[in-house]
Amino acid sequence: MKTVSYVAEVQEAALVVIEQGQIRTCRLNTEAKRTVGRRTPTAAPDISLISPIAGRHQGELACLAGEWFWINGESRNGTYYNGRKIEPDGDGNTRPIKLDNGDVLRIDTPDFRSPNGVWMLFTTDGVGEEWTFYSMKDKDEVVIGRDPSQSRIAIQRPYISAVHARITCRDGRYYLDDCHSAAGTWLNGRRISGQELLQEKDRISLCDINFIYSGDNLIFNPRKPKTAEEQKRVILSADIESKTVPDQSGSGAKELIRNVKLEICEGELVALLGGSGAGKSTLMNCLNGMELQGVKGRVTFCGEDLYANFERLKFLIGNVPQKNVLHEMLTVEEEIWEAAVTRLPADMSSQEIRRRVDETISLLRLDSVRRSRIHKISGGEMQRVNIAIDLAADKTLFYLDEPDAGLDPEMKRELFTILQNLAHNQRKTIIVIIHDVSEIELFDRVVMMVKYEDVGRIAFTGTPQEAAEYFGAAMKDVYGILTRNPEKYIRG
Ligand SMILES: Nc1ncnc2c1ncn2[C@@H]1O[C@H](COP(=O)(O)OP(=O)(O)OP(=O)(O)O)[C@@H](O)[C@H]1O
Ligand SMILES: [Mg+2]
Repeated sequence: MKTVSYVAEVQEAALVVIEQGQIRTCRLNTEAKRTVGRRTPTAAPDISLISPIAGRHQGELACLAGEWFWINGESRNGTYYNGRKIEPDGDGNTRPIKLDNGDVLRIDTPDFRSPNGVWMLFTTDGVGEEWTFYSMKDKDEVVIGRDPSQSRIAIQRPYISAVHARITCRDGRYYLDDCHSAAGTWLNGRRISGQELLQEKDRISLCDINFIYSGDNLIFNPRKPKTAEEQKRVILSADIESKTVPDQSGSGAKELIRNVKLEICEGELVALLGGSGAGKSTLMNCLNGMELQGVKGRVTFCGEDLYANFERLKFLIGNVPQKNVLHEMLTVEEEIWEAAVTRLPADMSSQEIRRRVDETISLLRLDSVRRSRIHKISGGEMQRVNIAIDLAADKTLFYLDEPDAGLDPEMKRELFTILQNLAHNQRKTIIVIIHDVSEIELFDRVVMMVKYEDVGRIAFTGTPQEAAEYFGAAMKDVYGILTRNPEKYIRG
């Protein structure tokens, strides 16, 4: 069985360490292990901690075959990995823990309330350099929001409300409130409704922006949109063991897809290919968080577990419907305006919405039909209006299931060219199920699925050029090759 596949190249990694109100970014070198522990006169770990509750040999970070691992050491307080204490297995051994972008290691007391706690974020995301401080010292109130004139911390992303969340200081304590934001304010993974007292190392999340509260500081990654020249980061990864549905008898389970491992970078246009029934729509519904029933595995989006944080992250995901769900009697611009008004925060000004609608119309090349009623426009234009609706709301990850169905070759090319442009110039990540591969060279990645023993599997992931080399054939002939010899190509 061939195993050539696309897995994003080993990315540089870093550990962002927060302790005692200070932040440090420790770059990790794939060549060498890094020991982590408390500095003492006799021991100088590579990553030295000052906290008195850290052990001298808290653990080690090591890169093995391109993957990073935490190897737990000996310590009185132990280490928590994403909120769970690392314990030995039944045989008394503690296995190394594979680290993914966004994973958090903590040294703390079991209630996570020690002022001496250490919070360590493993990141491959800009190598941790984008993390920054905001000191709340001597401030009665700190507003986080989109509007710089009303917010001390301004995050200018459309899914953030103009005034989104407020931290108030009283008697040396800090309290968090949500300001009726559209997307909500989350504290340690829970959406808040009333005022909450902040405790050391609490995590405040507004969609994909995380703030760590420590001392008098907020420490956060503003996630500034990156330009194409900047290093690509993996934005979506999946490790799905299986997705099952109840079988016809109702007593057993039918497996629809198995062993799907994928990594997709920000700003990529990805084609999901495969014969009918290969499991493409099933996989898409696992990746977009729509189908959680019967999924064994994990999908990570923006470095976070998508399923566990779906209610917060869904604001960034656009599922473009295949069917026409538009209001036939509205004009194109009215339709996009309506969608923008209902999906963008209520406090966004009409001028700002107008600007977004105009920009969206131009990006989707809908200027010539902006005043036409929906029922008069072509299938290709209709499909573009469907995309415009999510684009106007500034989604960052788009899923399209066969958007080219019923389009003539010219319309298809135009649609995929527009999608490529959105991916490359607007940094959108776009995953598209297609059947026809005639425009495949416009895509950055292809993910090829095949049905084997009645279960959908991954046969290949890589660039279109790599696919052609791998299968030794033009892309248009690959389906035939795969259907005849699925066992030769399946992975996992
Ligand atoms: N809820 C379900 N119950 C039982 N079987 C299902 C269910 N959903 C999908 N399947 C089966 O799983 C397989 C994969 O379906 P899926 O819709 O993902 O295929 P696809 O690759 O998108 O196909 P197409 O190109 O025809 O859209 C098919 O054999 C389908 O019949
Ligand atoms: Mg399908």
